[in-house]
Amino acid sequence: MSESSTGGSYGKAGFTRRRFIIGTAGVSAVAALGGTVVRAPRAVASGAPSGPPTTTLPLPTTTKPEQLLLTWGGDPATEVTVSWSAPGTVAQPAPTLAVSAQPITAHNPGRLVKMPDPKPLDVTQRYGEAASVSFTDGLNGQTTYFYHVQLKGLKPGTRYYYQVTDGASEPSTAGSSFETAPSGRAKFRFSSYGDLATPSWDLNTSGNIWHESCDNSWYAVTAIENPGDGKGAPLFHLLNGDLCYANLDVDNAPGVWRDFGNNVARCAANRPWMPALGNHECEFGTDTISGHPGKAPGGIAAQGAAGNYWNGPYGFGHYLSRFLLPDNGVTNWDGNRLRGNFYAFQVGTVTFISLDADDVIYQDGAANYVIDTANTPPETTTTGASIPNGTTTYTRFYTGGLKPDATNNSLVPDYASGQPNLQTIWLERTLARARRDPSVDMIVMFMHQCAMSTSVPGNGSDLGIRQAWLPLFDKYEVDLVLSGHEHDYERTYPVRGYDTGAHGTVAAPNPGQTKGAAVDTRRPSVAATEPHDVDGTPAWNTAEGTVYLVLGGGGTNGPTNTYGTDAADDKPQAKVITTRNAVVGSEAAGFVKNGADSIEDAPWSAAINPTDAYGYSIFDVDPGRHRGETTITFQYFAIPAVTNEAGSAHDGTTTLPTQPTEKFVFGRRVGRR
Ligand SMILES: [Fe+2]
Ligand SMILES: [Fe+2]
Repeated sequence: MSESSTGGSYGKAGFTRRRFIIGTAGVSAVAALGGTVVRAPRAVASGAPSGPPTTTLPLPTTTKPEQLLLTWGGDPATEVTVSWSAPGTVAQPAPTLAVSAQPITAHNPGRLVKMPDPKPLDVTQRYGEAASVSFTDGLNGQTTYFYHVQLKGLKPGTRYYYQVTDGASEPSTAGSSFETAPSGRAKFRFSSYGDLATPSWDLNTSGNIWHESCDNSWYAVTAIENPGDGKGAPLFHLLNGDLCYANLDVDNAPGVWRDFGNNVARCAANRPWMPALGNHECEFGTDTISGHPGKAPGGIAAQGAAGNYWNGPYGFGHYLSRFLLPDNGVTNWDGNRLRGNFYAFQVGTVTFISLDADDVIYQDGAANYVIDTANTPPETTTTGASIPNGTTTYTRFYTGGLKPDATNNSLVPDYASGQPNLQTIWLERTLARARRDPSVDMIVMFMHQCAMSTSVPGNGSDLGIRQAWLPLFDKYEVDLVLSGHEHDYERTYPVRGYDTGAHGTVAAPNPGQTKGAAVDTRRPSVAATEPHDVDGTPAWNTAEGTVYLVLGGGGTNGPTNTYGTDAADDKPQAKVITTRNAVVGSEAAGFVKNGADSIEDAPWSAAINPTDAYGYSIFDVDPGRHRGETTITFQYFAIPAVTNEAGSAHDGTTTLPTQPTEKFVFGRRVGRR
C-alpha cells in the first residue's frame, strides 16, 4: 500500500521508526529483578470438568450476600453506590445495608438502609436511594437478584465502612470499606483492563469452567488489589468491556455472571469498578430490542424467529441489573432511560467518560448463532427458547442515526431523520463541558472496541469509531482512549486528524465491496514519534495528539497478541472493518459472517507485545500546582499466561511482575517548559 500525503491541520513525522516490540526484554528484566510468584488457593471443586456445561445447572438456594460491588455515583467525592447479589434464584428475605465512617460493630451499628421488595429490571424508571432489581434470563429462565444502595452526601477523601445482610432468620452478612475520591486538585491512582472473563473451574465459586474461563482472570483481580510496584491499590478500576462472556454460555448466563461477580468482589468490594459495555455484554433472550417480553404467537420457542431474541434492553439486561451507574440523563427514542450505557465522572483534575461503542461500530460481533451447515436446527435452550441459525444481535445506531459528512469522511448525528444518535450528541456536550471547566485538565475515554489495533487473529480497527467519535476526540483534545476487545496490549503514538488519501485496500470483501479496491479508512495521523523526557521517564504531550491504548489482556482463554506486518516493507499493518460484516446465506445452505474487510498501513502503531497477551495498567495522576499541569504516569505490567489459557488443566501459578513492562508520562504541558 502506498505511503500517501498527509492531510489535516497537524504535522506528521516520518514513518521510518520501527514500533517498539515489548515483551521479551520486559520479561527478562522482570526475571532479573524478581517478580512475585503467586500461587492460587486450592480448589473447591473435586476435579476438572471436561468443558462448559451444555445444560442449565441449578444455582444455590441460599441467600448469603455475595458479589459485593462498588461503583462511583455521579460525584465520586461524595457518592458511592454499594451493590450486592443473592447467590442464586431466591431473593433475600429482608436485606439491609449499614454504613458508617467508623467500623460497624455491635456498639456502632451505623446508618441502616432497608431494601425494598425486588422489582423486575425496568430501565424506564428512576431509582431511589435503595433499589432491589430482579432479572429473568430469557434463555434459561433463572431469576437472579441485585441490590443497590446509592450513598450520597459522603465526605471527600474519607473511608467508610459498610455491611450488608440478607435478613434471614439466621442472618448472613458481608462487608468491607472504601474511600471516597478526594476533592479538588489531588493525586490519585486508577487502573484498567478489559476482557476479564472468569477464572477456570478451580478458582470459580461454582467449580465450573465457562467458554472463556482462564485462571489469568483470577490473577488480574489479585494484581489490582496489590499492584506490582508496591505502591498500593488504586482508588478505582476501569473495566473496558467484555466482562465475563456470559453470552457464550447460553444455558447458564446467570451462573457465569455469578462467578465473575465473586472473582471481581475480591477487589470491587473495596474500591469502585467502573465498566464499559462490550460486545459480549449483549445476550440472546426472548425480548424485543427495547427489552419488552416477546409476544409473538407460539410462546417462548417462537420468539427468536420473530425477532424477539434480546435479553433485556438491547441484550444488556444482566449488565443493567448488576450495575447501577452514573446517570447520563438521556432517554432513548424508545422511551428507555440510557443510564449506565454511557456515562461520565470526574476525579481530581481528570474527566472519565465511558462509551458504548456497540452503538457506532460497523462490526457485527455481539451474540451470534451462525453455522455454515445446511439446515442447521435452531439453538434451543433448556427452557425451549429458540434462536434460528443466522441470528446476530446488532445494535449499531440503537441510540439514533448518524449520517455521512463527506467533507471529512465523518459521521454526524442525523437530525434530519428525527432521531439523531443520542450518545454522540451527549458525548459532544460532555466533552465541551469538560474542556470549558477550569477544574478539568485531562480527559480519559474508556470503551470496548478499537479505533486502532494491529492484532491479526483479532477483530481489527473499526472505521465506525473513527468516523463517529475521533473527530470529537480531536476537536476536544481527548488525552487518552482506553479500550479492550483485542486480547493483547497495544499503544499508539499521539494522533490527531487523519491522513487524507492514505487509502487502505479491500482484502476480504463484504457484499458490495470489490477485492483490491481502495477504501478510505480515515487513518489517524501521527503527531509525534519521539517522546519528550520528564525526570528520566519518556513522556508524550497529549495536547498534541491523543494516545490510544489497547488493554484487553484481562484474562480470557483466547489471546490475540500476534500483530500485522506488511510483508513488502516490514512495517506495521492493520485490519480495518469499513462496512458491516453482515450474515449472509440461507437456512438451506447455512450461514457465514465475514471478518474485517480491509487492511491499511499502520504508522500509528507504536508498541505491541507479542510475548504476553495478559497484563494490567496503573495510572498515577499528579495535578501539579496550577491549571493545566496535570500529568498521568502510566505503567503497564505484563502478566505471563498460566498454563490453562487454552484448556482446562493448569498449574495455578503465575508471576506477577514487580517492574513495569512499559512506563510513560502523559501530560499537556510535557516538553513545553
Ligand atoms: Fe473480548
Ligand atoms: Fe470484544
